[in-house]
Amino acid sequence: MSNEKVSFVSEGAGIIPREVARFLSANKDAVIERALEKADASWKEIELVSFSQGPGIGNCLQVGLDAVREIGGKKKIPVVGVNHCCAHLEIGRLVTRARDPVLLYASGANTQIIAFEGRRYRVFGETLDVGIGNLLDKFARHLDLGFPGGPKLQELYYQATPEDFVPLPYTVKGMDLTFSGILTKAKQLADSKKYSKAALAYSLQEVVFAMLVEVSERALAHCAKDELLLGGGVACSKILQEKARIMCEERGARLFVPENALLVDNAAMIAWQGVLQKKAASRDYSALTIRPYERTDDVQAFWR
Ligand code: FE2
Repeated sequence: MSNEKVSFVSEGAGIIPREVARFLSANKDAVIERALEKADASWKEIELVSFSQGPGIGNCLQVGLDAVREIGGKKKIPVVGVNHCCAHLEIGRLVTRARDPVLLYASGANTQIIAFEGRRYRVFGETLDVGIGNLLDKFARHLDLGFPGGPKLQELYYQATPEDFVPLPYTVKGMDLTFSGILTKAKQLADSKKYSKAALAYSLQEVVFAMLVEVSERALAHCAKDELLLGGGVACSKILQEKARIMCEERGARLFVPENALLVDNAAMIAWQGVLQKKAASRDYSALTIRPYERTDDVQAFWR
């Protein structure tokens, strides 16, 4: 297997969709070449090409669609479009052998608690504003820790002790979460210069990861499931993994954590989701369009 990627890193505080799309366009051929090389495969052996239809930034999804259209046309290879969030769940199920988990999907742009109910992957809770990774990156930038902020905030977390805890808003609304108010408060505390970076990094992660674990636990109870699967780049956090482990242990559930390369956005998950869909439907399994705003529960999970 090869699981190649190339990532855009912005120099400023945000990204300009047009710039990212240009970057992806310029780099896509090299990544595809590298993937074939690593897998020691030729085009003749490729039976299927999958791409993410959404959710995501339209300009960027379009680059993927253009690429697979070209490949599909030139090489006469079937093309399958998939939902990015479902793909996180399915690659996790594949590598961990979890049967029917609740997925805690925590990444830069997305924060959702997803489970399979009534032929769909339903969202049982989610952020009402920014993704949790976005919150962590913004706070890390505020502390001049650079990007990506997660690993640096984690390092600081372990330098603090429970005595360093500074209260922050804890904003769980039913099954949903909000993060932007916590970010504002954390930035204000940082600007007050009364607390160390480690104390603030500790407090922030204590609060937001506890929120995620609380909602995940309630989803497990509500759905009567006993498996929790982690997904998304923020799930690489050892702090979050530890909190999830304790919760699962206490309620007799099993925790599944794929390796980091399969937690973050990755090509293998898109490929595998395509394989599942192709296997389950003999024809017309995907329209060749992008769906930037597609919600996880819009998708009929016909492959399960
Ligand atoms: Fe993702």
